[in-house]
Amino acid sequence: MAYDWDRLSVPPSLRWFEQKWSRRSDPYCLSGVWRFHELLPFVPVEACVTVGEGQTLLQAADAVAKYAGLSAGRLFLQYEGMNPSGSFKDNGMSAAFSHARFVGASRAACASTGNTSASLALYCSVTKLMRAVIFVGSGKIAYGKLSQALDYGALTVQITGDFDDAMARVKEVSKQLGIYLVNSVNPFRLEGQKTIMFRVLESLRWEVPDWIVVPGGNLGNSSAFGKAFMELKQLGLIDRIPRLAIVNAAGANTLNRLVGTSGLRWNGGRTDPHLVKKFYEEMDAEGRRAATIASAIEINRPVNLEKCLRALDVCDGVVREATDQEILDAKAQVGAGGIGCEPASAASVAGTKRLVDEGVIGRDQRVVCILTGHQLKDPTATVAYHTTDQQLFNDVLGKRGVRRAAFANRAVVVPNDLGEIVKAIELYS
Ligand code: F0G
Repeated sequence: MAYDWDRLSVPPSLRWFEQKWSRRSDPYCLSGVWRFHELLPFVPVEACVTVGEGQTLLQAADAVAKYAGLSAGRLFLQYEGMNPSGSFKDNGMSAAFSHARFVGASRAACASTGNTSASLALYCSVTKLMRAVIFVGSGKIAYGKLSQALDYGALTVQITGDFDDAMARVKEVSKQLGIYLVNSVNPFRLEGQKTIMFRVLESLRWEVPDWIVVPGGNLGNSSAFGKAFMELKQLGLIDRIPRLAIVNAAGANTLNRLVGTSGLRWNGGRTDPHLVKKFYEEMDAEGRRAATIASAIEINRPVNLEKCLRALDVCDGVVREATDQEILDAKAQVGAGGIGCEPASAASVAGTKRLVDEGVIGRDQRVVCILTGHQLKDPTATVAYHTTDQQLFNDVLGKRGVRRAAFANRAVVVPNDLGEIVKAIELYS
């Protein structure tokens, strides 16, 4: 989606947006998405839907910086778990939902690894403007997320298969039944997700960091971030573009393989379609399915692949992957800092550590990791990591190749006896 900026009134500087801070009683100024409406003006602001999304936080995290090999004061966590549905998806959903209402939709659908569906269900239930129809793979969605969709009253269609199967089906079904599709193939979703970058800049007092590091699943975020920086530069609102690092889970690494091994590039919009086709044909022939503890990014056919290649081009980006072990260790480090996240989010920290180890990210560079989802989204993964129950560890994590929980905070098991309890507390505190 491209705007004719010459016909729109573009703010003279990013600092201009600060005037909205004093107008917080206006819901469009309070919203972390719509206070940047001038940079995503696809419907009039008064037609936009808000449930208070985007009240998020950029937090300096020195202990996590140390873990990743960065100097103190150089690592920041952009905590998108603070959104109303607990993930970054609300940024994009408020935008897609606004467009859906604008065109008079009565039903909206998505396929989801859990967070998109939780977000859609929330917007539908709060506003009562549309009915949510969500497709999930059976057994493929973390309980925190499933519980949201059920609680908010979405029509929940559980199909046999994984996200890639559900995505293919929801496209067919929404076409056949004329249902508005809110997956990130929807360009308005990406418009909303651009604002995550606007808020990062806002928190850094409009200074551009050196790196943005983001987990890669369907590649909507990375595509949106690339577009955000491309437009800001084009409008003269920033003078340089940060580098982008996209981190796949090793068990769902289509982007990393295509870019890292097959050499796929944006190439001025002339991406090699044969390379992609061949890759998917081989994947199907080998029967390879996505498999990772980071269920949010357990995706092998990312719908935004091409747009993401453009983002990599615009941001001089790199792609890496992180194993489930690396992801869970990084997640424990993030959690120990008090801002918990779900496994997929921690891929950003695990990827940062790898890139610092490789010398691609310098120790003193300023790095922003996007924590895409709240810690409570997937309690099973967290409890299994910290547990003293070897069986639980094996059932949830061992089968995925996770061997140890180096940063586990184990519960202390004590008999129900005052003396023993006092002794244990004295010993361990
Ligand atoms: N992190 C979390 C917590 C997510 O839920 C997702 C995607 C991603 C990262 C990946 O972002 O797709 O923009 O590359 N979740 C989708 C869903 C697929 O259905 O909730 P992406």
